[in-house]
Amino acid sequence: MSSSEFLVRERCAEADAMFIDRWSPRALNNEPISSEQMEIILEAARWAPSAYNEQPWRFVYSVTEQDRNLFVNTLVEMNQKWASNASVLLFIFAKKTFSHNNAPNRWALFDCGSAWVSIALQARKLGLYSHAMAGFVPEKVYEATGVSPEDYDIAIAVALGKRGDASELPADLLEREKPNGRKMIKELML
Ligand SMILES: Cc1cc2nc3c(=O)[nH]c(=O)nc-3n(C[C@H](O)[C@H](O)[C@H](O)COP(=O)(O)O)c2cc1C
Repeated sequence: MSSSEFLVRERCAEADAMFIDRWSPRALNNEPISSEQMEIILEAARWAPSAYNEQPWRFVYSVTEQDRNLFVNTLVEMNQKWASNASVLLFIFAKKTFSHNNAPNRWALFDCGSAWVSIALQARKLGLYSHAMAGFVPEKVYEATGVSPEDYDIAIAVALGKRGDASELPADLLEREKPNGRKMIKELML
């Protein structure tokens, strides 16, 4: 058995506490997030770096309960079970082409990942949590948001909210409701 099968929450060095403080709970409560807080979260994302400073990230997020319910239905069942308690469901889309020459932008999804990390860290600074989700049905996301599949890839769905009562999670999810460990630095070296 290789050492990488043992994931531990042991630190290799003391990075800033904000990196450890970010994790992805599933127990959320649907207390509203103010429009001011959403603006701060998106402001953080806006300053992410990107190839050619293209800023390919585009956002659609739920404002009303009706939007939220519509967006919850685009998720796979396993995610619906818990993400239906998120305060906000956000999608990050990646613009497929560069604006200056219309050429395909093969870094657009990478850049959206940078934007997501900013969202996740800024959310924690506001006392909120974010949980990224790849478990969605793309056709349903395009339909629910009205975004063009020709022009935009779906980078990720994100549940945002305050922590809820973990004991209300289904048993299989309750078991997983804790921060995950990581591989050690030496395991990441090629
Ligand atoms: C691209 C991406 C896709 C993910 N998709 C899902 C998902 O569909 N459902 C889910 O419950 N968690 C999902 N996660 C959460 C990861 O499982 C989680 O980030 C990982 O286990 C590390 O745990 P931590 O975020 O608590 O540190 C996703 C995370 C990322 C970055």
